Amino acid sequence: MTGDRVTINEVGPRDGLQNLATFVDTDDKLRIIRSLLDSGIRSIEATSFVSPRWVPQLRDADALMAKLPQAGDVEYSVLVPNMKGYERAVAAGARSVAVVVSCTETMNRKNIAMSLDEAIAVSCDVIGRAAADGLRTRAYLAVAFECPFEGPTPLDVVIRLAGRLSDAGASEIAVADTIGAADPTSVHRCFSALMPDHGSARLSAHFHDTRGLGCANAFAALQAGVRKLDASIGGLGGCPFAPGAAGNLATEDLVHMLEAGGYSTGVDLDRLAAAVAVAESCVGQPLGGHWLRWRRSQERAGDAASPVQ
Ligand code: COA
Ligand code: ZN
Repeated sequence: MTGDRVTINEVGPRDGLQNLATFVDTDDKLRIIRSLLDSGIRSIEATSFVSPRWVPQLRDADALMAKLPQAGDVEYSVLVPNMKGYERAVAAGARSVAVVVSCTETMNRKNIAMSLDEAIAVSCDVIGRAAADGLRTRAYLAVAFECPFEGPTPLDVVIRLAGRLSDAGASEIAVADTIGAADPTSVHRCFSALMPDHGSARLSAHFHDTRGLGCANAFAALQAGVRKLDASIGGLGGCPFAPGAAGNLATEDLVHMLEAGGYSTGVDLDRLAAAVAVAESCVGQPLGGHWLRWRRSQERAGDAASPVQ
């Protein structure tokens, strides 16, 4: 048993909801967030201040921010693609922002209509401004393992871009397998290469479970020293601009794996199961990773075995 603390950063309200065909009402988004807080989650990516034309699902970012439940130990971050997004986020009361740089030219153009150089320059400006304003910054390195347009991402590109964002003052580098193409061996190699320069306090990992390797990849990142991992309630999610980006690693699968291995997450699995049920009722579709399917089959078996009253 390791006893190590691992921070779960819940990205369902942003990475999850941005990819739905339907708009989830602000009050329903808040119901999901409240149920996540009830489960013990303390780090949540709440929404994006992006173009409402590009991502209409999150067009209520201002209204949502105004109603977020506040508690001293809860950290909300919001995604901002440019300075306009940053200014909107600050006006709405954000204390932590996430910028996004994709590792390839094409993915930046598809996702934020910028070249790679522009994406770096804009993100570094936002990071500098946020540091001056006293905000925390998380810098996503998207398609860090494979790009749906350009194929496998060379590790030296990831190392170089992480260095640029870190030099600009990013509080955290979030290495993202946007389309779920990574494998545990390449994940371990990547984080082992980044660890000496950035350290575990400044690195986090973001996996999608597209090909069933989400938990294995998370474990490989842990083995390389990562102690902060993104996940999405019920496995909701994906990037609308990256073909093939299916659901994120399900929060309940990740918490189950970590707690079973003796890591401490502060998250209660029973309450997380309840949070998935809340999310299902809000998005109108069944959700849940492997652990939840197992758990529900146990419940059904228990119901069938119990005597009729
Ligand atoms: N929030 C709201 N509106 C924004 C904005 C922001 N952060 N940034 C730009 N806009 C508005 C501009 O004011 C302008 O409005 P107008 O037509 O009324 O004058 C319009 O959008 C076009 O501005 P422009 O700078 O040309 O943007 P664009 O169309 O090239 O789009 C982004 C650039 C970055 C705004 C857009 O690509 C985007 O929002 N991408 C986010 C994608 C995403 O969320 N991906 C998933 C997460 S990684
Ligand atoms: Zn993602």
